[in-house]
This record gives sequence, C-alpha cells and structure tokens, in this order.
Amino acid sequence: MKNQILKLLRDSTEYVSGQELCERFNVSRTAVWKAVEQLKKDGYTIEAVRNRGYRLITGGCEVYNKAEIDASIGTEYIGRNSFFYNIIGSTNSEAKRLADEGAPDGTLVVADRQTAGKGRRGRSWVSPEGTNIYFSLLLKPDFHPSQAPMLTLVMALAVAEAVKGLDEKAEAKIKWPNDIVINGKKVCGILTEMSVERDYIQHVVIGTGINVKRQTFDAEFADHASSVETELDAEVSRSRLIGLIMEAFEKYYEEFKKAGNLSTIKSEYEKYLVNRGREVCVLDPKGEYKGIAMGINDSGELLVKTDDGKTTEVYAGEVSVRGIYGYV
Ligand code: BTN
Repeated sequence: MKNQILKLLRDSTEYVSGQELCERFNVSRTAVWKAVEQLKKDGYTIEAVRNRGYRLITGGCEVYNKAEIDASIGTEYIGRNSFFYNIIGSTNSEAKRLADEGAPDGTLVVADRQTAGKGRRGRSWVSPEGTNIYFSLLLKPDFHPSQAPMLTLVMALAVAEAVKGLDEKAEAKIKWPNDIVINGKKVCGILTEMSVERDYIQHVVIGTGINVKRQTFDAEFADHASSVETELDAEVSRSRLIGLIMEAFEKYYEEFKKAGNLSTIKSEYEKYLVNRGREVCVLDPKGEYKGIAMGINDSGELLVKTDDGKTTEVYAGEVSVRGIYGYV
C-alpha cells in the first residue's frame, strides 16, 4: 500500500485527503498514517495539513530507492522485476547470483554504491554513493553465445537515446563500441558478462555505470570523464534516467531478437556514433593503424577504411579505438 500511496501522491498536484486514501485502499486512518510515516522514513517529504490531507513535496533532495525506480519503468518485462541495494559489491556479480537462484529474464539490479565495481579489461569501476547509476540487467536469451557481445551495443544505443530523452539538445554520442560520451567526455561504461554451457547461453548480465551527479574525477580521468548533470547543466533524476533506459532497451532488444543481429537498428546506432566519418587509431595488438571509421556492420564490428582503400572489420573484443587527437 505504501507504494500505491506514493504513486497517488505523486500523480496529484492537490492535497489528497486521508479519507480518500482510507476509502481507496479500504484501510483505517491509522494504517494510512503509518504508511505515510514509513514513506517519510524512506526520505520523502510529505506535508500533512489538517482538513486537507497529504501532499508530496517534490524537488530538493533526490529519493533513490526501489519504489522510485519501479514507478519510473513503463516496460513490458525489462526491469519489471527489480532489486535495489544501498551497498553491494558489484551489481553484475549480484545479478549472476540471482540468475543462479532462478531470477527471470529482464531482472534489474541497481545499487546506490558498489564496493567492488568492475570495469572492462579487469579494471575496477569507482562507485561512490549518492552520485551515479550502477545497474545490471539480467537476460536469458535463447540465441547463440556468439551473438551476445552485440547486446553491449544495444545497451549503448538505449543509454544514448535515454540521455536524449532527458534533453533533446544533449550531444549524447556513442564511442564505439559502447562508451557514451557527451560533448566528447565519457559519462557511461558498459560491461557485459555471460555464462555459457556448451553451446547455449545460461544468462547474460549487462552492467552499466553512468556518472550522473556533478563530481570531481581523479587526475587520470579528469580530461575525458564527465557526468550527465555537468554536460546537460541540469538536475537529473537517476530513477527517471533508468526508466528511460529500460524503455529504450526493451524496444531495441525486441528488434535485435527478431533480426538475430543489429541489421534493423544499425542505422539508429550509427546516428549516435561519434567516430563516424572521423579518423581513428585502431589499437590492434598485432600492429596499430589509422583509418576513417565508416560505421558498423550487422554484427557490430567497426568498419575502418584505410589509406589503401580497403575496409577492415574491427572486432571489439580484440582491440580498442581512439580518436587521433584524443579520447574520441
Ligand atoms: C567500463 O569499464 O567502461 C565498464 C564499466 C561498467 C561498470 C558497471 S557499474 C554496474 C555494473 N556492475 C559492475 O561491477 N560493473 C558494471
């Protein structure tokens, strides 16, 4: 009932009388009062005025919890079963644990803080509280394991579109394959992990970390990292952004599953591709080379045209790509 009262208060611009809440939920005034007290403990500011009722005061401090996140997600199944932790080691590890316990396809695991956040290439992902988004999405697809790496690009597309959903003018782009940059600075990283048995996927976990609130970065990241609030110059609700991402992801994931590859969403992805038409340096362990990034193929490999007129297909697992003048 607590969450239903919250939803009702959120949807109403006027006071909602105690009587109305009692009748709506068929409970006593004491039960309503207790639920409101619980919401206050959860961090909501609720004004109670005699003879008028209750009113939710919005703005100010952000409330970030399961109820807020659930209320922001309007999907069919992606993110509908959710878990929220104030502190966890890594949401990716937790999602895997939940998968082993039988958590359903589309389960979302969110944390306010991670103590052992994992980045790509064995790096750690600094995850302080009250600042950023850390979530992992658990998927149980029935396609071949070789298709799973493409899901990282699907998530990148969803995040880029969601940021645009916050502000149409935002310069949100994708640095191939899956970093989200705004005004050329990285605000989001994605780490996809998969559990495979013989030739079939047990589960895939797409972990996403987004710098949201204004913050200072360690010297080593300061020149190419930023946050969504800094770059949009606006306050951003983490729950709302998660909701927008889940909705965009569900839409593109359905397309992806139908096609079995990125063919039907490739052009959408390429609209966001910051590298497109730019000179890039391909950091291939077998030898670095430069070329112009042309776009991606149906499998998500970057097409790089070199000086000799040839086009190479760059697979993200083996190499990374840098802009020749800096990060993008
Ligand atoms: C990168 O290195 O760019 C990818 C970083 C991915 C970080 C996210 S935060 C939520 C999820 N849980 C983790 O432990 N890592 C991912």
